[in-house]
Amino acid sequence: MSAKLIDGKAFAATVREKVAAHVARLKEVHGVTPGLAVVLVGDDPASEVYVRSKGKLTVDVGMNSYEHKLPVDTPEADLLALIDRLNEDRDVHGILVQLPLPDHLDESLVINAIDPAKDVDGFHISNVGLLATGQESMVPCTPLGCLMMLRDHHGSLSGLDAVVIGRSNIVGKPMAQLLLGDSCTVTIAHSRTKNLPDVVRRADIVVAAVGRANFVPGDWIKPGATVIDVGINRIAAPEKGEGKSRLVGDVDFGSASLVAGAITPVPGGVGPMTIACLLANTVTACCRAHG
Ligand code: GUN
Repeated sequence: MSAKLIDGKAFAATVREKVAAHVARLKEVHGVTPGLAVVLVGDDPASEVYVRSKGKLTVDVGMNSYEHKLPVDTPEADLLALIDRLNEDRDVHGILVQLPLPDHLDESLVINAIDPAKDVDGFHISNVGLLATGQESMVPCTPLGCLMMLRDHHGSLSGLDAVVIGRSNIVGKPMAQLLLGDSCTVTIAHSRTKNLPDVVRRADIVVAAVGRANFVPGDWIKPGATVIDVGINRIAAPEKGEGKSRLVGDVDFGSASLVAGAITPVPGGVGPMTIACLLANTVTACCRAHG
């Protein structure tokens, strides 16, 4: 392995320390404790794990955590009524509705019911528009975490060629907006992109967010490029025993780490930064609410 390992786990711990210090100051000086409400509809095991982890880390940095677990068949009107209550609740500064939602719920309607000022995911259409036009907004947590790691590694990103693989609303599109905001030359590649290996080979920065295990091999990577792997894919790992599995990214770490200049591991890369940025966004929302 020749690439420098970008340690998202350690970086996230430093971000959480800063968040905790900010929370302590808000309490001491303004008598305010930031509060994050997380809404989970249904009992998807992976979502339950994420929500539990978010709740624990929220409390660890000194904020209040409010968890709302609703049954899988919750009517849309009930979910919207809960969001209305959370919008009005002065103790709640951030609201996150865990995705994906069960099929009978209209995801876009639900997200856009959240007060944009409390939309710590940055998914509300107002925040999407503000980010796209370079104005102050809530920035989606995963792309924000990726940007922080890239800035930390490179200093300035100005003029670098960046390729984002994946065009989702949650990661690909906002990631491209953020890189553009830092004056990268940005290409958004996706499943229909022609000559994808050649497109990726041009990049100084590769952000892989396709949701397919080991999709990007090392021979697509320009020597010395920085690789940010957003993927979290569970694959069978018979070598660990029958029925065992392990997490891998969208990048084939073994081959890519021989070529890249720097790379994030999976796990321990982007994942911890996403939650740290969620906590940071909640503090930001609280500060804005209290002027
Ligand atoms: N499900 C997977 N990632 C996310 C995320 O960043 N926010 C929300 N709300 N749900 C998710």
